[in-house]
Amino acid sequence: NWKLSGYIERTVAEIKEKVGNEKVILGLSGGVDSSVAAVLIHKAIGDQLQCIFVDTGLLRKDEGKKVMEQYGNHFHMNIDMVDASERFLSKLKGISDPEEKRKTIGKEFVAVFDEESHKFEGAKFLAQGTIYPDVIESQSVKGPSAVIKSHHNVGGLPEEMKLQLLEPLRELFKDEVRKVGEELGIPHHLVYRHPFPGPGLGIRILGEVSEEKVKILQEGDDIFIQELYKNNLYEKVSQAFVVLLPVKSVGVMGDERTYEYTAVVRSANTIDFMTAEFSKLPWEFLEKVSNRIINEVRGINRVTYDISSKPPATIEWE
Ligand code: XMP
Repeated sequence: NWKLSGYIERTVAEIKEKVGNEKVILGLSGGVDSSVAAVLIHKAIGDQLQCIFVDTGLLRKDEGKKVMEQYGNHFHMNIDMVDASERFLSKLKGISDPEEKRKTIGKEFVAVFDEESHKFEGAKFLAQGTIYPDVIESQSVKGPSAVIKSHHNVGGLPEEMKLQLLEPLRELFKDEVRKVGEELGIPHHLVYRHPFPGPGLGIRILGEVSEEKVKILQEGDDIFIQELYKNNLYEKVSQAFVVLLPVKSVGVMGDERTYEYTAVVRSANTIDFMTAEFSKLPWEFLEKVSNRIINEVRGINRVTYDISSKPPATIEWE
């Protein structure tokens, strides 16, 4: 690949040159872009990089633990892990409107990140995993997605943080970012993860979010994702996840009548995420996923499969 050959070497040199002896902070989310940016910058400046990982409590099952294992233990990066779950949950109390949830989560994220970054007062740079499509999107006059849903991970810095931006992936497309990541030694499955929205499970729990619902959703979602990997389907779909509905229905478990939540299994195939079709997953596979979720997750007694395309539906439910 003409563009990537020498890319890492060249970028590492540029980062060293630009940063000198200064400190850099980076918001690590566990997603592909911020992880590749972190490993690349770490390769250039080592311990001068300080990552901040905010656990919003709205992440996938064991996300924080996995990030610490991979990037903390394996890559030896400095990671400040902030457990802000309670803060997020309490801010979300009583809120069920999707846009209000997004705004609340986005605002709280900036507040937590800002507070944490003050621990590293001397830092001169803020690194971000901005990639080329983000640059284009934020330059365009508010596209439909910006109007319909306020994305919070392509934002800006809080005004008072006078940090210089460091964005080593700005020229790369997603597939190039993945190649760079693999070349840097990030495991294949991490570099090929599906996208995950900034507001996280907050917008996959329809209606009001609670700790109990987060737990239920994490378990159900984890089963679906495990099964996709096991059956070699994960990389055949573009984005897959479980949604928890605030709808209870009657079921039967042994001799007991149950009255529990409904989960939606959602999987989409798309090239640009602007249009998408639902994944035509095999019936036997869906049956397995449904059985496992209902049998293993307390709180869910019914599983449905979302067969809507985008448009007119969106990939997410909120
Ligand atoms: P929709 O639901 O609009 O999703 O079809 C298209 C893609 O965007 C992601 N998405 C978000 N990402 N913050 C994000 O960072 C958000 O608020 C948000 N809403 C949707 C969604 O996961 C899908 O990949």
